[in-house]
Amino acid sequence: MTNQKFDKTYFDRYYGKQPVRSLNEVAHLATAVHELANWWNSPIRSVLEVGAGPGDWSTWYRTVRPHVRVMSVDVSEHACATYGHEQRDIATWSPHRPFDLVICMDVLQYLDEARAVRALRNLTKATRTYLYFDALTMFDARHTVDRSSTDLNAHLRSGDWYRRRLSRHFTQTGVGLWVRKGSQVVLHELERTR
Ligand SMILES: C[S@@+](CC[C@H](N)C(=O)[O-])C[C@H]1O[C@@H](n2cnc3c(N)ncnc32)[C@H](O)[C@@H]1O
Repeated sequence: MTNQKFDKTYFDRYYGKQPVRSLNEVAHLATAVHELANWWNSPIRSVLEVGAGPGDWSTWYRTVRPHVRVMSVDVSEHACATYGHEQRDIATWSPHRPFDLVICMDVLQYLDEARAVRALRNLTKATRTYLYFDALTMFDARHTVDRSSTDLNAHLRSGDWYRRRLSRHFTQTGVGLWVRKGSQVVLHELERTR
């Protein structure tokens, strides 16, 4: 799968008149994650959005939390030119310094296994404390998404494939949020999934 797939036609189809998710919906999620970090007493001061597409998370941060340092990246030339990201391929790039929060939503299903493994390594390097992660899985394709409006032309893997790899360096708190092991955050036993 090349970045040519992520051209104007792709973005018009999935992020045009009826986007897969709205900025307003993402605002609820971003607010929740940002406030959870405050609850855990390890606030978010820097954010990296990976495979940002329309850049809903980075837009929310730039608008609502302007003191947070934000970087947004995408492999697609079109997305970078249209939405203002830096052009980076997460399979081959990681930042020099880690960010408090890294968001990678609906991206890794587009990478084959070898590139997805490298991308997970780079996401881990990029994350100081919190990772918000979601990717379309085989289960989702069968049970949770609207198949008519979802791009199923992807490398669909099991949820466990991602969980196994992420669990080496992160603790899963649920709802897509992972906390880096060894960070300052202390989770109560029942705040984590296991
Ligand atoms: C389904 S869209 C998701 C966009 C956004 N994260 C969201 O949740 O709305 C997938 C995005 O991942 C980007 N992408 C795909 N492969 C990538 C890679 N190797 N590195 C960075 N971005 C990538 C695409 O260009 C596209 O913008």
